[in-house]
Amino acid sequence: MISLLLSGALLRAQAGPTASTANGAGIADTSLDPRVESILRSMTLDEKVGQLVQYSAGQATGPGTGRSDYKEMIVRGEVGSFLNVVDPRQINEYQHLAMEKSRLHIPLLFGLDVVHGFKTEFPMPLGLASTWNPALVEKVSRAAAAEASASGIRWTFSPMVDIARDARWGRIAEGAGEDPFLGSAMAAAYVRGYQGVRLDAADSIAACAKHYVGYGAAEGGRDYNTTEISEHTLRQFYLPPFHAAVEAGTASLMSAFNSLDGVPASANPFTLKQVLRKEWGFRGLVVSDWESVGELEPHGIAASKEVAARKGFLAGVDMDMVSSVYHDHLHHLVDSGSVKLAEVDEAVRHVLRVKLALGLFEHPFVDESAAERDWFSPASMELAETAAEQSLVLLKNENGADGKPLLPLSNNIQNLALIGPLAEELAHSQSEKEQSLRVSLASAIGQRIGADHLFRFKGVGLLDGTDEQIAEAVAVAMKADVVIVALGESPDMSGEAASRAHLDLPGRQQDLLEAIVKTGKPVVLVLFSGRPLTLPWAFGHVPAVIAAWFPGIATGPALARTLFGEVNPSGKLVVSWPRSVGQEPLYYNALNTGRPAGNVDLSHPPANADDKYLSRYIDEDNSPQFPFGYGGSYTSFSYGITTTTQKELSARILNGNLGATAEAAVRVQSKIKNTGARPAEEVVQLYIQLRGTSTAQPVRALKGFRRVALAPGESKTVEFDLPPQAFAIWNDRNAFAVEPASVTLWIAPDSAHGSAAEIEIVP
Ligand code: BGC
Repeated sequence: MISLLLSGALLRAQAGPTASTANGAGIADTSLDPRVESILRSMTLDEKVGQLVQYSAGQATGPGTGRSDYKEMIVRGEVGSFLNVVDPRQINEYQHLAMEKSRLHIPLLFGLDVVHGFKTEFPMPLGLASTWNPALVEKVSRAAAAEASASGIRWTFSPMVDIARDARWGRIAEGAGEDPFLGSAMAAAYVRGYQGVRLDAADSIAACAKHYVGYGAAEGGRDYNTTEISEHTLRQFYLPPFHAAVEAGTASLMSAFNSLDGVPASANPFTLKQVLRKEWGFRGLVVSDWESVGELEPHGIAASKEVAARKGFLAGVDMDMVSSVYHDHLHHLVDSGSVKLAEVDEAVRHVLRVKLALGLFEHPFVDESAAERDWFSPASMELAETAAEQSLVLLKNENGADGKPLLPLSNNIQNLALIGPLAEELAHSQSEKEQSLRVSLASAIGQRIGADHLFRFKGVGLLDGTDEQIAEAVAVAMKADVVIVALGESPDMSGEAASRAHLDLPGRQQDLLEAIVKTGKPVVLVLFSGRPLTLPWAFGHVPAVIAAWFPGIATGPALARTLFGEVNPSGKLVVSWPRSVGQEPLYYNALNTGRPAGNVDLSHPPANADDKYLSRYIDEDNSPQFPFGYGGSYTSFSYGITTTTQKELSARILNGNLGATAEAAVRVQSKIKNTGARPAEEVVQLYIQLRGTSTAQPVRALKGFRRVALAPGESKTVEFDLPPQAFAIWNDRNAFAVEPASVTLWIAPDSAHGSAAEIEIVP
């Protein structure tokens, strides 16, 4: 077997299809270096340390207390950055102190978690990823950048590109799901959108790919928990979206909270120095997560805060978010010889480079009077609605009594009931302007069928409820022809520090649902959640279910247009939807085992030893409730056979072309037809499986996807040009390479279907 070993530069193999360096004027631009060096030469050690210090001066987004002497510290040059300052007046006030009163006039960098919009609220990231539309995500992050920068925020702690395989982990909501290929495409799209064509444009903000790395693999799905990830899994699954973000020019990365194979990610020289700096050539800034350097002490690898500062710093964390240990100890660590001055200089370079690339030295202030001008622009509002519509995933749509699928609903419907704790707007912390722009689901539906024909009733609370409330809800349902039930989680039940051990409907929502279904009325379940929920009863008994995630400011109109068929749902799952919590972590791109179970029939005991000793549960299917990539439509599609331009590829030639912007190694195609009566967009997916390689490979791995618009009856041949990188794996010699293998390729509507084609990779 000949397989060429490849250097780290070729890790690009797994980068998303759209990864490219968009911002030539960004941190990769070496023309900034002379200015960096000249500033550096003028700095004292304390001023250098100051650039590596970040405090939160607004609403806390983590534990710990703030300080009260920020103004004095700014004047002394002891702070390089703030997060969570959102008022442009305060930003300017601090910036004036830095620019006019500090000795070197180095601007402050203001950062914030601008995650799915700044003012205009777009769908949460898991929903945005469910659009499978990186171009749309790029527009969304561009719009968010415009709004945030108008307030003086030039740095966002986004995108979160952590691979998430476990729905118990609350932060699954903040990322793009379980797949590295899709995750890479989304990572690059976010970076391009935030940073724009030029990072120094007034409406561009620096991106921060987080949380580097492995944070999503928290054991038991419990936030901040330990992770154990082999290098093989790290390289093939967890690192690629970060690499894609680096390739797209991200100005920064955030080091994570988790310990990774015993070494906390914020003190991990292998990931922070070897992979990030040496192999990927990253020239931007690494900021720690909130107090994650100080937390090296409770992690147990630092006997004091000083040791924590030393370990975090020497591992490659440039800037200390909030824990203040660099501020308190770095100077002394240099004096005592534990840290070299040259190492401090290198970290300061990373910070200055980002500030210079952003044009902050030239334009440090924000126009306070203009900050609100661009909020909620008509273009952003329209984008929010498109994004919300494409993020909705139709999970189920069965035929009703009339033999037709329950959805879409007819505009002629006589009476409709809207029941459930999530039927109302989640109205907290909205400004007046935002309230005036939000159209609730109830009003959006009311506008269609007439407010008198819509019966609204909360039924139960999210976490509580009584038998009486359920009985009243049933009475309301009885008056309607169709009942829409809006159930799920509140937004704060997912996200940071919101892991769940139970993935069912909280409170009495299940009882409410069952009581309403028992009325015999047709029921549409609209599920709001930051993760898939295990609802086997609902999927067995409710005819129509939409996974809405949290769609943002356009929730009402987007859902109403979808429910009534003006929009044909086109979102697809970016996470495998579990049947039960016990299946977690559950992900489609798992490795095979020596005893694959296939589809076992759980209703009978195994007939013989061959059926018994398989990799499976005795009390649950292995398969998900809905597979990765799955999403329904109001039309139907047929997928033709999958064909390839070649039947045989050469590993030697593929390896020779890995680094190049190579032409396609093979073209894969299939004819997709809209066989139904409605125009639609279908997300067509390409998967591969490799067999015979030196390391075990996923049963399927996504290698391409495309949104295709199809009119009723229309067919299109969908083509994927697979580059050599698509076949590269992390092999048993610890390198990315293409190896001889048998390859199955599927063009498919999801990760569990599609027609297969076979090719061989020969030596
Ligand atoms: C989170 C980060 C976030 C930071 C600042 C931390 O607790 O883990 O994702 O960017 O706070 O808000």
